[in-house]
This record gives sequence, structure tokens and C-alpha cells, in this order.
Amino acid sequence: MTFRARHLLGIEPLAPPEITALLDLADSYVDLNRRAHKHGEALAGLTQINMFFENSTRTQASFELAGKRLGADVMNMSMQASSINKGETLIDTALTLNAMHPDLLVVRHPHSGAVALLAQKVTCAVLNAGDGRHEHPTQALLDALTIRRAKGRLHRLTVAICGDIAHSRVARSNILLLHKLENRVRLIGPPTLMPAGIADWGVEVFDDMREGLKGCDVVMMLRLQRERMDGGFVPSVREYYHRFGLDAEKLSHAHGDAIVMHPGPMNRGVEIDGTIADDINRSVIQEQVEMGVAVRMAAMDLLARNLRARPREVMA
Ligand code: NCD
Repeated sequence: MTFRARHLLGIEPLAPPEITALLDLADSYVDLNRRAHKHGEALAGLTQINMFFENSTRTQASFELAGKRLGADVMNMSMQASSINKGETLIDTALTLNAMHPDLLVVRHPHSGAVALLAQKVTCAVLNAGDGRHEHPTQALLDALTIRRAKGRLHRLTVAICGDIAHSRVARSNILLLHKLENRVRLIGPPTLMPAGIADWGVEVFDDMREGLKGCDVVMMLRLQRERMDGGFVPSVREYYHRFGLDAEKLSHAHGDAIVMHPGPMNRGVEIDGTIADDINRSVIQEQVEMGVAVRMAAMDLLARNLRARPREVMA
């Protein structure tokens, strides 16, 4: 099984069997990562460059670990210190790096569409580690693997995604993936944090947590992404927590065995109560981090198989 595409830019172009195959491969990497000796050979001899134009803790660390565990030479570019600050464009930076013959380029950028643009200019495989509010495909894939392992399946589940949907690439990629595998998605949050055109997304929308969580199998919480807000979207943090923060009482409206997820970084007492986040019977937040490394290993492994099978050419 391989990916049809050279790059992993989003969930949108993926076919359901590609998603399932990637998750199956990731399952085998979960086993590898739990061993004392964690090394594979899938990326041996390949060069991976991580370019993060936005802050990241878990995504950057897990892409780095994933590459190293599979034998790649991994370089983290410090984008704060790069020539971008001297006026070089994103494309010129990409072309410069491309001339050094990397095989895998992992890119996070604040602008939606920037990673796809860059992918058109280089000869290596590009992985989108989050572009603006557009897509974050490896996050949706690691969430899918976490759900599949916790629930034993990844279809006909009811998943609530709660909070700041409007600014969230995590929500967008998750909605696309969950729909492809025939799950029901509910979005819960204040109307000010719902994206325009939500009526066309094929989701149910709620502005009341208790009503929206009724009968849900999965409760996914999101951070208020203030860095993407250009005005007052919520009256106050206190008020927001009161209405939309996940606590034990609100969670009691979901299924008795519903799992709680959060992509991180988490703001305790804003979108989630700390005791819920730490409750090992309900919260799978640490599993999400573990699955993140395995899913990124699988994604880079599949793209590397493509690289080896096809000659290099500039796609644009
Ligand atoms: C998310 C992101 O960067 O989109 N975090 C992540 O990748 N784990 C969500 C967020 O920043 O709130």
C-alpha cells in the first residue's frame, strides 16, 4: 500500500483506504516505540528538514523523533533565525533548501495554503504540519488512531468537537477525516467561534454543551486560538469556562464511556477542567501524544516509499 500523492498536504485528497492503511502501519510503529530498542530503517539515508514558522512543542518534537527512529538525518531549521527575517520569501528559502537535496520537508506556516504553494516548488516530499486555519493532517490522523484504539472502531461514532472551531485547522482536518469514515460530527461552541459557511459542512451545530454532548462517544476540546483572533470573540474567560469549559457535570451528558481528547497546548480552567484532563479513565490526551510519533513515522514511511519508486521532478 502506498499513498497516491507525493505530499501529505491535507486530509481532503486522501481516500478512506489510504487513511486505514496509514493507521494500520502506525499501529505497528506504536509497538516499535514501546520497545527498548526503537530503531527502524524505513528512512535510512534520507534527509528530513523541519521548518516551523509558528511555535510548536509536540508536533515538532514528534516529527523529529519519528524521523530519527526511522534512521533519517533530521535537521530543525530555526525559522526565527533564518533569512526570512532578512526579506527572503518563503519560496526562495524553500528553493535554497531544496538545492541541498532533502527528501522530506516538514512545514508549519501561519498562512493557509502556504505549505501547498511551497510543495509546488520543490522536488522532495512535503508534509503539512499545520497551515493557518486550513489543515493539520497528521493531527487528524493521530486523533483517528487514538479513537480507533480506544473505541475499537472508527465508523458510526458520534464525535463532538468543542470550542474555537473558527480558527482551528485541527477541527477542519478532523471533520474531513471523520466524515470520510462515516462518523457523525457535532460542533459545539459560541456562534462567534463558528466558521462562516458552517451550514455546508454536513455537521450538527450546537451552542449548548449539555445538549450537544448528549450521547457522544468522543469529546474533543479545542484551545481558544487568540493568536488568530482580531477582536473580542468571547466576553470573558470566566464566562467562557462556565458555558463551554468541559467539567465533570457537562461530561456526564455524553455516553458513560465517552473519551476526552485535546490536541494541546491545553489551557486548564479555560476550555477544560484540569481534573478531567488528568482522569486516566476518561482522558486519552497522553495517548494522543504517543500516537503522534507513530502516525508521523507511518506518514513519512509511506511518502519515502513513493520517493524511492518515482523519479524526482519539480511538480509545478
Ligand atoms: C494545534 C495546532 O497547532 O494547530 N496544536 C497541535 O498541533 N498539537 C492546536 C492549537 O494550537 O491549539
